[in-house]
Amino acid sequence: MIVTCLFQASQKLSFTFKFSPLVNTGNDDKKVALYLRVIKAIKNSIAQNKLTAGQKLPSSRTLAQQFGVARQTIVNALNELIAQDILYAKEKSGYFVVDKKVVDKKLTNNCHTQSRIVNETLFTDWQFNNVSHNVFSESSDNIQYNFIAGTPDFEHFPFTEFRRHLAHVMNYPDKSDFSYEHAQGQPQLITAIKHYLHCTRNITNRPVFITSGSQEAIFMISRLLLNKGDKVAVSQLGYQHAWSAFKENGATLIKIKNDQQNLDIGDLASKLKQQKIKLLYLTPDNHYPTTQSLSTKQREQIVQLAREHNVIIIEDDYDHEYHFTSQITPPMASHDPQQLIIYLSTFSKILYPGARIGFISAPALVFKQLIKLRQTMSHKNESMTQRALALWMTEGGFSRHILRSTKRYQSRRLFTDTVLKHHQKQSPQLSIHYTLAKSGLSIWLKLNVDCALLAETALKQGILIQDESCFSDVKISKSRHLRLGFSRLSEKEQHQGIDKLMALANDQINT
Ligand SMILES: Cc1ncc(COP(=O)(O)O)c(C=O)c1O
Repeated sequence: MIVTCLFQASQKLSFTFKFSPLVNTGNDDKKVALYLRVIKAIKNSIAQNKLTAGQKLPSSRTLAQQFGVARQTIVNALNELIAQDILYAKEKSGYFVVDKKVVDKKLTNNCHTQSRIVNETLFTDWQFNNVSHNVFSESSDNIQYNFIAGTPDFEHFPFTEFRRHLAHVMNYPDKSDFSYEHAQGQPQLITAIKHYLHCTRNITNRPVFITSGSQEAIFMISRLLLNKGDKVAVSQLGYQHAWSAFKENGATLIKIKNDQQNLDIGDLASKLKQQKIKLLYLTPDNHYPTTQSLSTKQREQIVQLAREHNVIIIEDDYDHEYHFTSQITPPMASHDPQQLIIYLSTFSKILYPGARIGFISAPALVFKQLIKLRQTMSHKNESMTQRALALWMTEGGFSRHILRSTKRYQSRRLFTDTVLKHHQKQSPQLSIHYTLAKSGLSIWLKLNVDCALLAETALKQGILIQDESCFSDVKISKSRHLRLGFSRLSEKEQHQGIDKLMALANDQINT
């Protein structure tokens, strides 16, 4: 309709200016396809009134000469402008500009698609399900000293070595990498993990299911086991990403005390008596965030309680690789005759979190359900990196990397200990207290200052650190703890960062 009206008005108008060759339109556009650059030039001419409503464009041959491009490129551009209602074509006559008002609207819509979408949503009653995610998320902008715990030092990851395995996978593709096969994960990686679990953790005879990190594992298990109103026991301070997954799947959290220990077993026993708890989420080794590990006896007591009250245990062994003494307590899943324990672990601390590879080792009946859920969610996870990891594990590079990293982190751990001891002596007013954990990549520090405020002031000075309140979903009135990670910074940086942090803590006391 619009096209016909305009068509009548357009007949007498002639074309008065020439387009410049595209080579003259500036460097920015060079990577953009030629026909898109032609479209842009024509739209600009319309926006600047060099081309007006009803005006006839030169023939495609002339346009091709003016722009310095092939005629087919012009034809493609003109067809696109017609599709966008910016031009219209008249048989045997040529191409014309449509009404200015319509053009303006079209141009605006094209430039600001985003805002158009936002406006359209106003007419739609979008009803999202609330996602329960309210977790500290790390930003590394302007951060000089990153004390966030738990991420490996990427500087020392053997990328060249790992790249060889990735290249091998690409050079010798396996047909199953290209298909929907193997919902449970890449078979060679599953075999390598089973072997690794057997040798390092005494976990045997349990199926392994590969996930996109432990986070996906926690979410999938929650999806399979939890219903609205189910209760999940977690330690009072803990891993909020896991909590979000539980809440997202309908659960209510029951907080168990974890004062000086990993978990207060007396408190767990009394909470279990008071109410029906379906799941218990634990980090028995190197408690997140307080770093203490449960002894074998404590683990047995917890399993005993879980058996009596028919509770399923999620054992999140997120940091198993880095042990600094020879006394390693085997995971609870290494002795699970009642089949109560779902064991999780991750490669995020060995490779890098972006690899998104973790796994579940669970009783066979859980495994079957996981496969069904995986097929519903995404068929399978990407498998080529999984295969490269399997090759790295079987070839031995993986173990060598863990050995080297453990040495490096041990030296950083001891160095941090020395720096902290120095500050303990220098600044007794800060009452610095900590117990060096036997495993893991962080130190849980107690200080006689408001640690939430300290973390806030430190951030302004480029120091990123988490205080106690980052590990709780309820307000903590007196935050007295900091979690000081030592894996990411060199000894020199660690030293400087801690000195600055302690200077800020002293400032807080003195003002
Ligand atoms: C307690 C805990 N569980 C699991 C993970 C690992 O998460 P993912 O494997 O999803 O990277 C972390 C990472 O920091 C963690 O702290």
